[in-house]
Amino acid sequence: MKLEMLPYKNVDLKTKRILEQLTISSRALAELKGYANTIPNMHILINAVTINEAKDSSAIENIVTTHDDIYKVLTESGYKEQNAKEVVDYRNAIWTGFEQIKKDGFINTNTIIKIQGIIEHNNAGIRKLPGTELKNSITGETIYTPPQNEQEIRAYLENLEDFINDNQDDIDSLIKVCLIHYQFESIHPFYDGNGRTGRILNILYLVLNKLIDSPILYLSKYINKSKQEYYRLFSEVRINNNFEDWILYILKGIEVTSIETIKLIENIQNEIKNYKEEFKTKLPKIYSKELLESLFYEVYTKIAYIEKACGVTRLTASSYLNQLEEFGLLESEKIGREKIYKNIRLINLLSDKKL
Ligand SMILES: Nc1ncnc2c1ncn2[C@@H]1O[C@H](COP(=O)(O)OP(=O)(O)OP(=O)(O)O)[C@@H](O)[C@H]1O
Ligand SMILES: [Mg+2]
Repeated sequence: MKLEMLPYKNVDLKTKRILEQLTISSRALAELKGYANTIPNMHILINAVTINEAKDSSAIENIVTTHDDIYKVLTESGYKEQNAKEVVDYRNAIWTGFEQIKKDGFINTNTIIKIQGIIEHNNAGIRKLPGTELKNSITGETIYTPPQNEQEIRAYLENLEDFINDNQDDIDSLIKVCLIHYQFESIHPFYDGNGRTGRILNILYLVLNKLIDSPILYLSKYINKSKQEYYRLFSEVRINNNFEDWILYILKGIEVTSIETIKLIENIQNEIKNYKEEFKTKLPKIYSKELLESLFYEVYTKIAYIEKACGVTRLTASSYLNQLEEFGLLESEKIGREKIYKNIRLINLLSDKKL
């Protein structure tokens, strides 16, 4: 069956199960939004959470790397690990998208193309040549053939853009996220990177509609854990018009992820508090708020960052970091000619498998 334009006709978006889950998910997300707004150092959190999202979303595409490699790439010291680099680019794509929609106040096709270009490091843009098909990775059989013709793809994108930016329809924004993700993936406008671009689009949509103020809610970890279900439900919609299970799946993801993100924020906040106490007790002479915050800004730091953040000389910055290492608050590692200092406690929190 041909892909329908939005809004879909003949789809009941208000079944009892959907409405029940919608209430639960909306509440969880509102709680996350409220909690996030009480946090003084949000940038630390956004940084941390987007690293995790970039890692998980890339893992769905089998781009697997470690936190440690990601941080090394982030130091820009010429460290080469291809997958980690991809993850770092993905994080940049999230930031670029976020800045763009803050500026524009809407999401359009150009923004989507820009995001995909960063993820894929090319400017191939929208598919021009036919042949793209979604295949079962094991059997190789074709599961779905998205629109092939460039004009047709553009028409679908235009329709999607209208749907995204239409605030007059009476469809709840969380339900719209579910529909937008399904539609975007079904249009599959690019040769590659559609999954990752689509998952960034989800968070941008939530931010645009003020369901959350900062880009901190990401479904990729949830999706990665239930990948088979994610793929199966795409087909369920296509074959059986079963939007209900698809919507319930995404809504459940919003609930679960909101709760997990609240927990993660709490843990980071506690860690900053404990770390601060320890820092003040052990090294009262060098303690400052700027220094503390720069140790949490990214999960690693280096001399140049401290020089800048604290307005001190290279020698002083180096002495700070060495003292912090001596007292067990940082761990250094040499990469090439550069020394980086890792905040191991923050790294452990972020890579916590339980979270
Ligand atoms: N049956 C389907 N119908 C529509 N979209 C699908 C279907 N199965 C999977 N998808 C989407 O296609 C994406 C994969 O497409 P593509 O390889 O272009 O994206 P990617 O970002 O490179 O990969 P990944 O999403 O695996 O990270 C999946 O993540 C999913 O969102
Ligand atoms: Mg791919």
